[in-house]
Amino acid sequence: MPKIDYLRISLIDKCNFRCQYCMPEGAELNYVLNQELLTNQEIISLLQGVFIPLGFTKFRLTGGEPLLRPGLVDLVHEIAQLPETEDLALTTNAFLLKKLAQPLYDAGLKRINISLDSLNAKTFDQIIGNRGGSRWQQTWEGIQQAHQVGFNPLKLNVVIIPGLNDTEVLDLAELSIKRQWHIRFIEFMPIGNPELFGDKAWIDSAYLREQIRQKWGLVESNIKGNGPADVFQIPGAQGTLGFISQMSECFCDRCNRVRLSADGWLRPCLLNETGQIDLKTALRNGQDLAKLQAQINDLLLLKPEINFKERDSGTDGTYSRTMSQIGG
Ligand code: GTP
Ligand code: 5AD
Ligand code: SF4
Repeated sequence: MPKIDYLRISLIDKCNFRCQYCMPEGAELNYVLNQELLTNQEIISLLQGVFIPLGFTKFRLTGGEPLLRPGLVDLVHEIAQLPETEDLALTTNAFLLKKLAQPLYDAGLKRINISLDSLNAKTFDQIIGNRGGSRWQQTWEGIQQAHQVGFNPLKLNVVIIPGLNDTEVLDLAELSIKRQWHIRFIEFMPIGNPELFGDKAWIDSAYLREQIRQKWGLVESNIKGNGPADVFQIPGAQGTLGFISQMSECFCDRCNRVRLSADGWLRPCLLNETGQIDLKTALRNGQDLAKLQAQINDLLLLKPEINFKERDSGTDGTYSRTMSQIGG
C-alpha cells in the first residue's frame, strides 16, 4: 500500500456544466448551502492542524467546478505558500479559465487537469448537457490560455462514452503528437447515475490502446503522474497518453489519496464512504485537532479495506453522492 499523502479538496458542488455522467438531472436540487461549505480559513486550519502533520504534501482542488468558488485565487495562494506543499493542482472544465488562468498561475498553481470530452462542438454540448449557445469555443480558449500561461503538465481528461464520443479517440490522441499535453482516457464509472448508459457503459482502455497502436504505434512512457493513469506515448510525440482504467483493471491497491467534500466530510475512497468523518462539524464544535488527527489516522489505517471493489457493500448498494459532489 503506498503512502497516503494526497488530499483532493472539493471546493464547491455547483457546476456550470451538466455532464451526463457526473451530474444527473435533479442533482442541483441538493446543492450544499453556502454556510455549510468549508471556508478558506477552515480548509487552511485542517491542512495545517491535521493533514500536514499526518504527512500530506499533495493537494488537488476540485468541484463541482472549482472556478466557481469565491475566493479561489486567495486559497490557492495560501496553500501554495505552505512550506510543506509539494504539489498543488486543480481539475476544471476550463469554461472560466481564460480569465482565471493567469491569476491562478501567479498565485502559485502550477499544474492543471481539464475535462474535454470532444473536439466536436455539437457532441461536446450534448455531453455537457448544454441547452444554450455552444460552449465549446470558450472552453477551448480556456485550454489555450492555460497552455500559454505555462501550466505544465497540462492534462486533458476524456471520458469515452459509447455512441457519443468513441469515434473521436484517434482525433483526441493526436493532440498529444505536436503538443506537450497529456491526454487521458477515463473509463466511465457508474456512480450517481448507474442506469444512464446501460449495463456496459465503458470501453476498456486496452481496446482504445489497440486503436491507437494500429494507427501510430504506442510505447510505455517513462513520464509518470501521481495518479492512477497508466502512461503511454505515440513514438516521437511531444505529449503522452494516459489510461485510467478503474473498471477493467482495478488500481485500488496503489491508491494514495483521500477526499474532502465541499461540506467537510473526509471520504476514504471515491466510491466507498465507509467510515467517513464529518470534519466540518468537528471543527465548528471546537474539537481538539490532535484528537481529530488520531481519528483520521485510524481511518487511513483501515483504508486498504475500503475500496472500489467493496463499493457495493453498503446497505442498498448505492452511493449517497454524485461525482460532482465528490469531485472526481
Ligand atoms: P494527477 O495524475 O495527479 O494529475 O491527477 P488525477 O488523475 O488523480 O486527477 P484528476 O482530477 O484529473 O482525475 C482524473 C480521473 O481519475 C477522475 O475523474 C477519476 O475518474 C479518476 N480517479 C482519480 N482518483 C481516483 C480514485 O481514487 N479512484 C478511482 N476509482 N478513480 C480515480
Ligand atoms: N466516470 C468517470 N470519470 C468521471 N468524471 C466525472 N464523472 C465521471 C464518471 N462517472 C471525471 C471528469 C473529470 C474528473 C474530475 O472526473 O471527466 O475530468
Ligand atoms: Fe461539471 Fe466536471 Fe461534473 Fe462536468 S464532470 S458536470 S464539468 S463537475
